[in-house]
Amino acid sequence: MDTATLDRLCDRYTDEQGAIVELLQTIQAEEHYLPRDALERVSTNLNIPLSQLYGLATFYRAFSLTPVGRHQVLCCTGTACHVRGGKRVVDHFRRILGIEVGETTEDGLFSLHTVNCLGACAVAPVAVVDGVCHGEMTAVNVEKLVRQYRSKSGE
Ligand code: FES
Repeated sequence: MDTATLDRLCDRYTDEQGAIVELLQTIQAEEHYLPRDALERVSTNLNIPLSQLYGLATFYRAFSLTPVGRHQVLCCTGTACHVRGGKRVVDHFRRILGIEVGETTEDGLFSLHTVNCLGACAVAPVAVVDGVCHGEMTAVNVEKLVRQYRSKSGE
C-alpha cells in the first residue's frame, strides 16, 4: 500500500471504538500482513504509540506481522499421518515451494505450516489448503495441488 493511500485511510480515521482495528484490517487485507513501515506511518499520522499498534497486532489472531501467503498450506504431522508418510508430504511441499515450514514463498502465494491432527486420520496423510481438506496425499498430489492453486492465482 503506498503512503498516499495510507494517509488517506488515516484521514478517514475517527476515534470511535474499533476504528483503529478496522484500519489495521484494511492494511492487512491489502498487504496480507502489517508491515512495520505502515504501522510507523499510522502511529505518526494518528499520534498513536507504536507499542499500542503492536499490542493490537499481536492480540488479534487475524493480524500478522510477517508476510502471509495468499494460499495457506497446512500439513498434518500427527501420529496417523506420520505413520502414513506425512513427513514425506511436508518435504515435497518444502521442495516444490522452496520454503521451510513457517515461511512464505517470495511471490507471496503460499505459506507452509504443520499442525497436529486435523481430525481426518482415516484419510491420512492429510493436507489442508485454504481450509479445504485433501486426504491420502502423495508426492504427485502435492505437485497437482500447487499447480492448481498457482493457476487459480493466475501465476
Ligand atoms: S493425525 Fe493427521 S489427521 Fe489425524
